[in-house]
Order: sequence, then C-alpha cells, then structure tokens
Amino acid sequence: MSLPLKVDKPTWAMNKVVITGFMGSGKSTVARALAKQLEWVMLDLDEMIEQEAGRSVPEIIEMDGEPRFRQLETRMLAKLLESSTSDVVVALGGGVWISEVNRKLISDHGALSVWLDAPFALCWKRITESGGGRPLARSEAAARSLFTERLARYELADVHLQVTKEKSADEIAAEIVQAIANR
Ligand code: S3P
Repeated sequence: MSLPLKVDKPTWAMNKVVITGFMGSGKSTVARALAKQLEWVMLDLDEMIEQEAGRSVPEIIEMDGEPRFRQLETRMLAKLLESSTSDVVVALGGGVWISEVNRKLISDHGALSVWLDAPFALCWKRITESGGGRPLARSEAAARSLFTERLARYELADVHLQVTKEKSADEIAAEIVQAIANR
C-alpha cells in the first residue's frame, strides 16, 4: 500500500523574500502567488506608502518630487523590515532595489532578493495596458532608458528569475521556491 506523500513546508533559515524588477515585471502578482504557496504574508511596499501618506504614489511623485518619494520609500522599507518578524514576501516598487542604502537594508535584515527579469517589451506592454499611474514611464523612450540604466543593479539580486509572457505567476512562484530550496 502506498501512503500519500506528505509535503512539508520548507524550513529555511531566512523568513523574508523581496521581489524586485522593472515596472510591469509582475512583482505584486508573483509576490502574492509566492506568499500563497509558502503560506506567508504578502506586503506591497507602494501600498503601504500610500496608506501612510493618504495619497497615491503617482500623486506623491508629481506633487512632492521623486527625491521626496525615495525618502518615504526607504523609511517605509526600514519600518517594514524591522517590524515584520513573521514569514513575509514583499513586493518592492521598481526603483527600491536601485538604491545602495535600500539594498543594504534588505541584506542586513537577512531578506532574500529575487529579480523578475522580464523583457522590456513585456514590461512596456503591461505599463501601457495598466493605463498610466507611472510618472517615471511616461514615454516608451523614457521607460526604455530607465530599464537599460537599471539592469546592472537588478543583476545584483540573490535570485535571478527569467520572466516570459507564457509563464503564469504560479509557475514563476514555484520556480522561486525551487531556486530558494536549491541554494
Ligand atoms: C517606480 C515603480 C513603481 C512606483 C513608482 C516608481 C520605479 O512601482 O514605485 O512609480 O521607480 O520603478 P511598480 O514597479 O510596482 O510599478
């Protein structure tokens, strides 16, 4: 008689994963799918900034400027990493990982960074389909130049995940689980 296989929840030392990648790479959707698979909590940094500020991220960038937004972002990232003791998957905004201060905060808190490496064409398609709300990607040329400029920094993430339009968020999340288990 064969017994049903028992699937144990992974027992990793690390209990925080941050998902990075360009706008439109699918960070929030994949973070949600990953949190579900791991039975962890999912947090979205942009949403937390919006809740605290009482304004949307595009409004903050447009009214207060990008440097002020970056300050709020770093402050919220530090707060989140310091306060979350539970198992948590964090969807970062696309610019968070670009700052060395933020990268240090993430590694100092023992969080594993995962880069969703999606081709520019896919990101741009999703950016346009989402109907605005991204002041730093107003034109294809502006978005492409930001994408190119940021690549070397995204490559510094612990785990590099290739994203294609054919892969579902669940499939990508399962690949992340596998990549973490293989480390
Ligand atoms: C930004 C990405 C946005 C948001 C803000 C700035 C960026 O988040 O944080 O508009 O600098 O790449 P998403 O990556 O979720 O679109």
